[in-house]
Amino acid sequence: TDLTEFLNLADFEEKAVERMSKMAYEYVASGAADELTIQWNRQAFDAIKLNPTVLNGVGQPDTRISLLGHELPHPILIAPTAYHQIMHPEGELATARGAGAASAVYVVSSFTTTPLAEIAQTATQPLWFQLYVRDDREYTRNLIQEAEARGCRAICITVDTAVPGVRNRQEKGGFNLPDHVITHHMPGPLNEKKPLTWKDIEWINSFAKTPVLLKGILNAEDAEKAVQAGASGIIVSNHGGRNLDTVPATIDALPRVADRVNGRIPVLMDGGIRRGTDVLKAIALGARAVLVGKPVCFGLACGGAAGVTKVIELLKTELEIAMILTGRATIPQIDRSVIWK
Ligand code: FNR
Repeated sequence: TDLTEFLNLADFEEKAVERMSKMAYEYVASGAADELTIQWNRQAFDAIKLNPTVLNGVGQPDTRISLLGHELPHPILIAPTAYHQIMHPEGELATARGAGAASAVYVVSSFTTTPLAEIAQTATQPLWFQLYVRDDREYTRNLIQEAEARGCRAICITVDTAVPGVRNRQEKGGFNLPDHVITHHMPGPLNEKKPLTWKDIEWINSFAKTPVLLKGILNAEDAEKAVQAGASGIIVSNHGGRNLDTVPATIDALPRVADRVNGRIPVLMDGGIRRGTDVLKAIALGARAVLVGKPVCFGLACGGAAGVTKVIELLKTELEIAMILTGRATIPQIDRSVIWK
């Protein structure tokens, strides 16, 4: 595919509508209920203004970060998203190749439609594993151990999905998985009866060999509990507006969480990242790194591995431009003073 016309992430979304089945597009694009949170994730970023500096001497900025034992060339990760084979025939293997070429950590969803073993063979950059905890806790323990054995270097437990959200638009889009699409590591959809609690997090921590992050925290009290439960990291997320509608934008929730955590463990965020300036704002407000969900799905749908790579590279290039124009030579130099007060 010729991707030269794709100049920004919005171009991928626009073209994806034409290239994906209606079912798959609606699955990716939709949010919960009235989709207010999905809108707020974007509006909140747009409402934040940047404070530029001139004659600041920053030429080529250094986007490297340290994160949970990794030295990464940039702070943009691929968020876990389910069912890549409905977006592109090569599914998660294309995502892994695209992540490799973009030097991005790829967080593989529990609902991967390609076995972890095959993804691990294809990946050339670190993989992390996103975990949905099933009622069958032995199954969960085995799944974590399999992910670790396949080389996944962190476990992100999704904690915001005690029940699936009210997905009206997804249902109207006729969501169903074609027979050939198999979720190798999840025995059927989530319909858990045995609630996940802080005790389960401590239990998982007791045997996990890799860092455990909690994905889906929005408030400072839960962030404090996460630190107390021994989490190695927090991902501030509202699941891309797909679970509980009318919770706040993640960029609005981030500063409070970051203030409470106060550097004890890394805080990451996702939700609405579409421009390099969004990455800059998230880092300024306390994120060590960001994850990108829907745009990666659209990149995959439009161009397979090359589409995934281009989405990440566009964001990285835009981040570098934003760093130069705000006078930040390195990621640690991006602090709250880049925000216009
Ligand atoms: C998701 N997300 C998600 N999260 C998770 O923990 N496990 C999963 O299997 C999925 N699946 C999934 C599918 C699709 C199609 C989307 C769009 C999202 C949520 C995802 O990890 C992330 O939190 C959001 O997508 C981030 O918001 P943006 O970047 O999509 O705005």
